[in-house]
Amino acid sequence: MHIRIHPSILAADFANLEAAVRDVADADAVHVDVMDNHFVPTLTFGPQMVRRLDEVSPIPLDVHLMIADADDHAAEYAQIGADSVTFHVEAATNPQAVIDAIHGHGARAGVAIKPGTPLEPYLPLMHSADLVLIMTVEPGAGGQSFMPEVMPKLSALHRYLGEQGLSPLVQVDGGITVESLPIALSHGADTFVAGSSVYGHGIPADNIRALRDAATKGEA
Ligand code: DX5
Ligand code: ZN
Repeated sequence: MHIRIHPSILAADFANLEAAVRDVADADAVHVDVMDNHFVPTLTFGPQMVRRLDEVSPIPLDVHLMIADADDHAAEYAQIGADSVTFHVEAATNPQAVIDAIHGHGARAGVAIKPGTPLEPYLPLMHSADLVLIMTVEPGAGGQSFMPEVMPKLSALHRYLGEQGLSPLVQVDGGITVESLPIALSHGADTFVAGSSVYGHGIPADNIRALRDAATKGEA
């Protein structure tokens, strides 16, 4: 299976983001965590920053919106050039309309689900989403530990997608390391967001390679 690694620049040096995105040119996309200090306590990037990052990044941007008003603001990130825009189902009153609006601007649409949110009510969205993000930590901060208790939800999603013949990317985000990646992979994830384990130590390109190797070993 082709797996994808999306480094999260939340763990990079905010004073040198251009270098941070160049350092991960071997990855499949750059994960950009947009936080609004309402949906989550932290405040990070807004649309102007994302637009500029897109201009300097050698690889596509995967924008993860952790904002309260996804209905009003998600489409803007699609408009400014993000390859994919993922919003939280918990933050949208009409998630299907948000997916349609993102598509209307030519971007891929993703739906994100927090650890405590059940999957079942949102299964109809899987028919039009291009990416499903199963959070493996509570959104809001990097450097937290992977939550194995979310794995049954990942398996249930994988089963449903198989039954329905659907193939959105299945992304996990939070606490992804060489140890936890094979666990999520074995439950059906194919796209792995990694902040601390890419930027937190050593050389990002080496850390990306180590994550890909862990996936290959996990599949063997
Ligand atoms: C958490 C963010 C993640 C975060 C992951 O709310 O959505 O993308 O950057 O960081 P690590 O990989 O350090 O858990
Ligand atoms: Zn994220």
